[in-house]
Amino acid sequence: MVYQVYPRSYQDSNGDGVGDLRGLISRLDYIKSLGVNVIWLNPIFGSPNDDNGYDISDYRAIMKDFGTMQDFDELLKGMHQRGLKVVLDLVVNHSSDEHEWFKQSRSSRTNPYRDYYHWWPAEKGTPNKRQSFFDVKGDAWAYDPTTKAYYLHYFSRKQPDLNWENPKLREEIYSMMRFWFDKGIDGFRMDVIPFISKDTTFPPLPAQYHGDFGRYYANGPHLHEYLQEMNREALSKYDVMSVAEGAGVTQADALQFVDPARKELNMLYHFEGMGVGLVPGNKYRMRTPGRYSLLDFKRVYTKWDSIFARTGWGTVYLGNHDQPRMTTRWGDDRPEFRAPSSKLLTTFLLTMRGTPYYYGGDELGMTNIRFTNIKDYQDIETRNMYAQLKGEGGDLTKFLAAQQLTARDNGRTPFQWDATANAGFTTGKPWLTINPNYAQINAAAEEKDPNSILNYFRKATALRRQHKVLVYGQYQLLDAANPNIYAYTRTQGNDKVLVVLNFTSEKRDWALPAGLTLGGAPWLNNYPTFAAGATLALLPWQALVLPLR
Ligand code: NOJ
Repeated sequence: MVYQVYPRSYQDSNGDGVGDLRGLISRLDYIKSLGVNVIWLNPIFGSPNDDNGYDISDYRAIMKDFGTMQDFDELLKGMHQRGLKVVLDLVVNHSSDEHEWFKQSRSSRTNPYRDYYHWWPAEKGTPNKRQSFFDVKGDAWAYDPTTKAYYLHYFSRKQPDLNWENPKLREEIYSMMRFWFDKGIDGFRMDVIPFISKDTTFPPLPAQYHGDFGRYYANGPHLHEYLQEMNREALSKYDVMSVAEGAGVTQADALQFVDPARKELNMLYHFEGMGVGLVPGNKYRMRTPGRYSLLDFKRVYTKWDSIFARTGWGTVYLGNHDQPRMTTRWGDDRPEFRAPSSKLLTTFLLTMRGTPYYYGGDELGMTNIRFTNIKDYQDIETRNMYAQLKGEGGDLTKFLAAQQLTARDNGRTPFQWDATANAGFTTGKPWLTINPNYAQINAAAEEKDPNSILNYFRKATALRRQHKVLVYGQYQLLDAANPNIYAYTRTQGNDKVLVVLNFTSEKRDWALPAGLTLGGAPWLNNYPTFAAGATLALLPWQALVLPLR
């Protein structure tokens, strides 16, 4: 079970309003108490923070805001002493434009670092269009007057794409990975890794291109060659794990990344689940009115489970730093439903096959902050989408309304530790507004309540540790056509359990399918009561894990 920490928002120790490593060190006992075994930290490396650390200017240094290398060494020691593994973020599709490599690269066309990046000389004309995710103009090519050439940046202008076709660059990356492995880290989460190989002739995008960037922007001809090389040169030399951010990875090519026989990566996390209920290619990223379809949701997770039926290993997640809060997006965050729906989603994550990636703060049932003003947002994605839309005369009100549901900053507000000033996160001014609901929703209050979301999470992690059937057991979807209930069994040898999840804010009856016999008290129930019978009378967002005979 992986627990994701967004260091900028976890715990500040020095009052500058930004979370840091010493703050995190002070919270290690809390993390240990959750029952997880791996911590993934978002980037902690030297960075000017155009994109909160996803723009790295020094891969071998700790970001000044976060502390020093000594702090990191202490953090690593503290984690290992507690039996926690640590996974860092590997951001190597692009660097910061403030990285020494890029400074050299842009200084002249003959500089030895020129080919560390993708340049398009102006005398060849304007390069073919590529859309940038975070550019104010949406243009992934930026003109640089010093050498009269354009450089490629799929993300912001301050995140130039690295040229993986250059073997020298690749060796620099592997050597940097070995540097961190030699320090003792336990793995990497690999940022937009399918993007490292692309068609570098940059042909015009075909007419049929409709935002399916995975096909035209990423997954280039050398991708798997590079991943195998990375495995040979770095990963295989250590006892470590690797997980790809599988942006654009389809069901058809997933196994190419994680089939152990191919010697590439261990796991990937896909985006299809996150796409449920979003209108594809819509710049407002508006959720389908009237909530998402549970049928689509079930279909996606069931299909992805089947991909790893024979080989490879999957992952499951419902939120991270790029997504809104899980409870708001997939549950119901109105006061009466917030706790049961958070617990239901936790039940889902911890009873599926594959490794759960659980986002810090979700164990409290934190919710979207729903900013009303563009000035409240710190995220480059929201700010630049807004600026671009404004330039085009788009509907800004509609955009802001949609961002209340989908913006990344919803998932990045500081961790709510207690009901004191600034939620116990900082003594200074927090870098991002703290959700005012911290007075009610906070860890200290939940520690005291045996029925809290936090304590439910602990029960669920303990259950998964105790029962291997929840980790490895075969998954079988039941009642596939039911639009309200998600039910499945997990089976391993003689162990069989039934998971029943009422994904609605209403009471629902669910008839136990013929052939299933309950085998005792629920292993997990997010309500105090449960009436066993041929039909289960489920309360709103009720979640049950029931042993079967
Ligand atoms: C994916 C990361 O998760 C996201 O936060 C970042 O903005 C982009 N990759 C670019 O690195």
